[in-house]
Amino acid sequence: MQSQTTTGTAAARRVHFHDLHPAPADMRAEVLAGLALPQKRLSPKFFYDADGSRLFDAICALPEYYPTRTEIGILRRHGAEMAARLGREALLIELGSGSSVKIRTLLEALRPAVYMPVDISREHLLQSAEALAAAFPALDVHAVCADYSSAFVLPVDHHDHPRAAFFPGSSVGNFEPPAAARLMARVGQILGPGGRLLIGVDLIKDVHRLEAAYNDADGVTAAFNLNLLTRINRELGADFDRDAFRHEAIFNAALARVEMHLISTRAQRVTVAGETFAFAEGESIHTECSYKYRIDGFHALAAEAGFAAEQVWTDADDLFSVHCLVYG
Ligand code: AVI
Repeated sequence: MQSQTTTGTAAARRVHFHDLHPAPADMRAEVLAGLALPQKRLSPKFFYDADGSRLFDAICALPEYYPTRTEIGILRRHGAEMAARLGREALLIELGSGSSVKIRTLLEALRPAVYMPVDISREHLLQSAEALAAAFPALDVHAVCADYSSAFVLPVDHHDHPRAAFFPGSSVGNFEPPAAARLMARVGQILGPGGRLLIGVDLIKDVHRLEAAYNDADGVTAAFNLNLLTRINRELGADFDRDAFRHEAIFNAALARVEMHLISTRAQRVTVAGETFAFAEGESIHTECSYKYRIDGFHALAAEAGFAAEQVWTDADDLFSVHCLVYG
């Protein structure tokens, strides 16, 4: 089911809102299935309720969390070149747009005909789409509430414009590599032959720097991780005791990924949607993988998805990369 509304305030008159109603029933089924696994798991896509989205914005501003400011630096420095690659007057789709901060650095140079942010967090999506429309009054904004990790169909067709997608923040790293390739292949199908994908990818680096980015001194990442339990309590009628879990983040060098876990600090039982799960002391719920790549390794993944590497930009310290890929 899809519904479309147009927000009506003067500041936000150009936001068309398309609600593809990502099903809350999926969350119940996925959480129950994940907690029943021998290594308990919760999907990182459930981090982003209103509080989680706010906490994620706070993470992005942390001194330890280098990816955001490094990527923004790359976008600022090379925005004109990127815009030339993507082409003017495009239909520009942004996956997991969140606060739409990064796209602002590109919009001046890009001037897309239509900007289509796609995000699962409805309120956050609307607020940032409205703020963006107010800042760029000439921009036609179609905000799409959808789970971009599943297949979805563009709610409007603009066949007369070239298509481009922007997937910043190394969110691709939150998918297992085969799932990342499938996601990129779906994006390729939406873009069509010749469509371009501008994608941010975090790079493999010193373990201390990686682990510090996910274990900040102020405990914001810990609060972000633990908020998952608060959300499950509220939305699925669970009785997690947040104080009986602690945040942990480690770099798994063999698999080139930072893993986040919630560790049970004591033996306990937790009821979720009527089902009970036992936790041993020290047992973990694995909540997130954040894969890090070398440039060649990422290009091999892109090739599996049908994309050819056109150009890559990095910062002076090779912390982060932004790739322009072309489909087909
Ligand atoms: C959204 N994603 C790319 C972030 C990351 O770095 O993997 C999520 C995050 N988790 C903890 N800190 C940030």
